[in-house]
Amino acid sequence: MRVLVTGALGQVGRELLEAFPAANTSTEVIGVDLGDFDIGDRDEVLAAVSASSPDVVVNTAAWTAVDAAESEPDGAWRSNALAVRHLAEASDRVGAHLVHISTDYVFDGTKGSPYVEWDEPNPASVYGASKLGGEREAAQARSFTIARTSWVCSRHGSNMVKTIMRVAAEQPELSFVDDQFGHPTFADDLARMVVRLATERRPGLFHVTNAGATSWFGFAQAVLEAMGEDPDRVRPISTTDLQPPRPAPRPAFSVLDNMALRLSGVEPLPDFHEPLQRTVTWLEAQ
Ligand SMILES: NC(=O)c1ccc[n+]([C@@H]2O[C@H](COP(=O)([O-])OP(=O)(O)OC[C@H]3O[C@@H](n4cnc5c(N)ncnc54)[C@H](OP(=O)(O)O)[C@@H]3O)[C@@H](O)[C@H]2O)c1
Repeated sequence: MRVLVTGALGQVGRELLEAFPAANTSTEVIGVDLGDFDIGDRDEVLAAVSASSPDVVVNTAAWTAVDAAESEPDGAWRSNALAVRHLAEASDRVGAHLVHISTDYVFDGTKGSPYVEWDEPNPASVYGASKLGGEREAAQARSFTIARTSWVCSRHGSNMVKTIMRVAAEQPELSFVDDQFGHPTFADDLARMVVRLATERRPGLFHVTNAGATSWFGFAQAVLEAMGEDPDRVRPISTTDLQPPRPAPRPAFSVLDNMALRLSGVEPLPDFHEPLQRTVTWLEAQ
């Protein structure tokens, strides 16, 4: 099997470059990022995909700057929605299965209980709306999987685990919001599930997250515990306390029920505390 992974320098992309050959040594993985080609450029996408002629295209590339998307909506729509149209077209041309990564931010967070795959999205931000556009484009491909995930952390790139560890090293007291709830998800666990979905060419939309719903406050406490630090150093605040306020609204409760996986009999990803400890230990050793 030959796999083309876009966004190969990102958190999820980097883990996929390891997870595909780890699952099957005969899998050939080609990782590409912005320096190779821009997924928003149709000619470049069609040329690159046909040149590598993959069996599977996994699109992890995205405009992930949630706040900047509010002031630069064209950039977000181009990379998150239009680009996926090009990838779907290119995948169809070479007969490849398209796997597209999406986000809990397609929901407004007002349901009050975990979202299942069949809930109606209603994004509150430009980022969320553009990612929903991308889901709709991916679903036009002849053969596709959409994996919606949330609160991605990993060894690589910038993410909340690294931010919390850095702030904990600099300040005696930390403040994190206690009114936004989600499922923290670790890119290596996510990558293993994406490999399975891709290899089996399971069609349709799946929520793929680690288990264990928490707030950012609860997550910060868990990070301190994993560091062997006192979790009571973290203070709960509310989103309205954030100064300056962030331009993009976040869903208050975007916990994703991994219902489609569960009903398919696929073993779910573990509770987030497990990969969190692994990640913190790895980062501390660097
Ligand atoms: N991070 C999260 O908390 C989170 C939560 C839910 C869902 N997701 C989704 O999960 C996926 C992977 O996220 P991630 O955290 O791994 O993202 P990431 O670390 O930001 O990596 C994305 C990569 O895509 C590249 N890229 C951006 N625009 C591109 C373009 N037009 N053409 C080619 N490459 C481009 C980026 O390059 P530059 O860095 O140079 O821009 C970056 O290397 C995305 O679809 C994201 O929407 C993420």
